[in-house]
Amino acid sequence: MVPPLPTALVTIGPTEEPIDAVRFIGNRSSGQMGLAIAESLLSRGWSVVAAVGPIRVPVPAALRDDPHARVERFHSSQDLESLLRRELPKSDLVVMAAAVADFRPRGVLEGKIGRGSAGLQLDLEPVPDLLATTRDARKPGSRVFGFALEPSERLESSALDKLERKDLAGIVANPLETMDAPDIDGTLFLRDGRVLAPGGRLPKAAFAAWLAGAIA
Ligand code: CTP
Repeated sequence: MVPPLPTALVTIGPTEEPIDAVRFIGNRSSGQMGLAIAESLLSRGWSVVAAVGPIRVPVPAALRDDPHARVERFHSSQDLESLLRRELPKSDLVVMAAAVADFRPRGVLEGKIGRGSAGLQLDLEPVPDLLATTRDARKPGSRVFGFALEPSERLESSALDKLERKDLAGIVANPLETMDAPDIDGTLFLRDGRVLAPGGRLPKAAFAAWLAGAIA
């Protein structure tokens, strides 16, 4: 009997946090990096679950059509949390490339808020750190990787802090300019102390291929 393929879960793109029936708070994540990582893992023989947020680019045909790939959708951080709780127990490798909101409106207002002359104040609450709070749902022995988007001057210290705090096998640190850009200048910090980098700025697809090789 052929053993089942190991399963990788890749989260991709931004979250949208609802304000009212038609508005949301979002961010500029394009999803390009996560899509490229999911494709690279698929081509390396992984069974891939691509958890895709509200992105503007189409999901590549390979991820839609390959029998070893499955696409799941999320919008809000709350959707993503439920999705993680469903998929983490089945995932051997997790790459959390989604740009999860850090704040969301405390409650969703009913209907569509009208434009009053007094303006509008939004009450925001912190979004739970999904990587940390869903730790209990992880498959034993699985390896979980995160991303850290930081200003260059505190890239390394913040990445190392998040590596510990979120209990990760590794974290890709990349400067703020990476968001929504075609290239990435990323460094992979591993829990065992190793620091790996492909050597300079690369197009996201090339970086994703390098990263898939490094973590898989
Ligand atoms: N992340 C998460 N839940 C959040 C925010 C981020 O799981 N609410 C994940 C991201 O998907 C990423 C990693 O945590 O893999 C780091 O994201 P980042 O925004 O850099 O970190 P934060 O935890 O939001 O830390 P801070 O805002 O304090 O820099």
